[in-house]
Formats: sequence, C-alpha cells, structure tokens
Amino acid sequence: MQSFPAVDPIPLPAPIWLLKLLHIVTLSLHFVAVEMLLGGLLLAVLLSLFRSSPASLVTARAIARRLTVVMTYVINLGVPPLLFAQVLYGRALYTSSVLIGAYWISIIAILTLTYWLLYQFTARLESGRSAWWVGLSAWVLAGFIARLLSTNMTLMLRPEVWRQMYSSSAAGVYLPTGDPTLTPRWLLMLAGGFFIGGLWLVYLAGRSTFTADEKKFIAGLGGKVAVLFGVVYLAAGLWAVSVQPQAVKDGLASHPLYRFAGFAGYGWLALVILAVLIAAIAGFGKVAANGLAWAGALAALLIEITFTVYRDGVRDLTLLNKGFDVWNRTVVTNWSVVGLFLVLFVGGLGVIGWLISVVARAQKPMEGAAL
Ligand code: HEM
Repeated sequence: MQSFPAVDPIPLPAPIWLLKLLHIVTLSLHFVAVEMLLGGLLLAVLLSLFRSSPASLVTARAIARRLTVVMTYVINLGVPPLLFAQVLYGRALYTSSVLIGAYWISIIAILTLTYWLLYQFTARLESGRSAWWVGLSAWVLAGFIARLLSTNMTLMLRPEVWRQMYSSSAAGVYLPTGDPTLTPRWLLMLAGGFFIGGLWLVYLAGRSTFTADEKKFIAGLGGKVAVLFGVVYLAAGLWAVSVQPQAVKDGLASHPLYRFAGFAGYGWLALVILAVLIAAIAGFGKVAANGLAWAGALAALLIEITFTVYRDGVRDLTLLNKGFDVWNRTVVTNWSVVGLFLVLFVGGLGVIGWLISVVARAQKPMEGAAL
C-alpha cells in the first residue's frame, strides 16, 4: 500500500540542497528565539514571584521587556522554515497537519493570547503589580504550542498511523498516541529553554545598563541555571536519541554530517559541554561577565545549528526507512527567481542586523532606574 500521497507533478524551483540549507539556517534561528522565550519567561516568572533581592525584580523586568521583542523573532523566524518544510516534506507534513487540524489551526489563537499575556506581564511588572500568574499562564500556553509543534513534526514521520487516525475523525480533533519519541523531544526543547535562558542571562550581565551589583547577580544566576540545565539538556538529548528506531540510530552514526553534528562526532555534545564550562565560570568564578557574554551567545547559536542539522537527519532517515526520499524530486531551477530571493534574503538579514545595532547603540536608562 502507498503510504504517502502522490508527489506534486510541479518540479521544485530550486536545488534541494539550497532549500535544505535555508531551512536549517532559518529554523536554527527560530529555535534560538523559542528557547529564549521558553526559558527566559519562566525565569522571569520565578524571579518576580520570589523577590529575594531588588536585583531579582530588576532582572525579571529586564527579561520581560525583551521577551515581547523575542516573540516577534519566534514568529517571523518560524514562517520561513514552515514554508521550506512544506516544499520539501509537503506530502508528509500536510497530511499530519490535516490529521490534527483543529489543534494545528488553534495555534494562531493560542499564540495571539500568549503574546497579549506577555505584554500584560511586562506592564504589570513595570507598574509594580503582581505579575507572576500572568507570566506563568503565557509560559503554559507557549509550552502547549511547543507540544503541538512536536506532535505534528513527529506525526509527519508516522504514515503507518495516518489511515487509522483519519478513520477515527476527519475533523482533526484527535491527537496521536503511542509515539515514544514525542515526549523526550518536547522535553528536550523545554530543558533547552532553561539552558539557553541561563546563557542569555550571562549575556545580559555584560550590558552596561545594569549596575555592578546587578551584573554580578545576573551572571551568577544565569551561569548556575545554565550549568544545571546544560546537564539536564544533555541527558534529555541522549534520551531523545535512545528512543529512535535502531535503523535511524545506525544511519545517524554512519552519516558523516550527522556524525559530526550530533554525538559520535561530538559537534552538539562538545558545544553543550563548552557552554556549560562558560556558564560555570560566569556562575561560580570570579571572572567579569563581559568577556563571557559573547562566548556564551556564540555557543548557544552553534548548539542550535548542530541540533537542527542532527534533527534534520532524524527526520530524513526516519522517512527514508518508510519509503520517502527527500532528495528524490524533479528540480527545474529558476535561477533568476533564486538569485532575487537570495539578494532579498541577505538584504533582509542585513537590515535586521542594522536594526539590532541601532537599538544596541541607543542611549538607555539604567534598568533599575524606575524602581
Ligand atoms: C510560542 C510560539 C512557538 C513556540 C513555543 C514554538 C516552538 C517550537 C518547537 C518546540 C519546535 C520543535 C518541535 C519538534 O520538532 O519537536 C518548533 C518547530 C517549528 N516551529 Fe515553532 N514555535 C512557536 C511558534 C511558531 C510559529 C508562529 C511558527 C510559524 C509561523 C513556527 C514554525 C515552526 C516550524 C516550521 C517548526 C518545525 C520545522 C521543521 O521541523 O521543519 N513556530 N517550534
């Protein structure tokens, strides 16, 4: 029986390697923003709940203010990989999206509510009102969106359950069950949130808008959180790989790129260990945080890139074992369109970089000034 819908007769308009490269670049950036949101938000909630010192409230407000901006990156950096994923894996991804259609479409409403709650959280913190329960609600919703995304990205790899799910309901009201890879994968993203969130604090501690005492507090807290959750993140990563089918594990271990990106070639593994060491120096050492800020940020970016490459390998190898070869497509490249796209893409990245540099250079009041 044919597991996957028939391939679209219209050829792909760009080389597959280029579509995959753009997919991985944009998705890695989406993941950096997602992890900052998931980890940063809960850290800000906890800091505002247990106001152990004036610095904890200053830190909570500093994170919250930035989270509304981070959310724009989560969304805008989520759209391109969604488009690339649909071009490359449409036969699998459209099917799974339709099968959980009611939940899939509800992401738009949940996302809107989460965004509104984020603004409420920030406003309440700024005005000194109780805010933790608003922030916590936003975090629960964001975690649920993450769960739905993990659900769809794993359901697209299981053509064997599609027919039975569709027979149960064509309205997309059921979520799939019985996939051992789903929960470890979701928890890996949540653990990564605290890890990257901790590294983000180490980075923030290098900003000149904090007093020396605040910097010390933020670097110490961020470093300790990143050390603890770096270890949890490593364990979750090992768990997520261990539940993959043997054929996928063998494929990951023997493919040169995935070997390098993941465990066997120590790409992701080495970077996580390096980032934990950076965090340990920031969290427990006496070294000023400024020098560590950029090292932690760079490590976080490289961790997400290697993670995304490896994750891509899990998908391609799983699908290949079920008869779907992502490389097996007719390509008729339209170079003028590809060229125009790349010019706009690079130009767009340049404009974002320029915007960030303008914001970074702008004169800002001290973070705790209004308290
Ligand atoms: C609060 C908002 C969001 C959160 C917390 C979030 C979280 C996540 C997580 C955890 C994953 C990984 C799932 C997995 O593979 O296990 C993911 C993947 C993804 N997200 Fe987001 N996301 C959010 C918003 C969005 C938005 C608004 C879009 C698009 C418009 C988007 C597009 C994607 C895509 C396309 C993937 C997977 C791509 C692929 O596998 O090829 N996300 N997201």
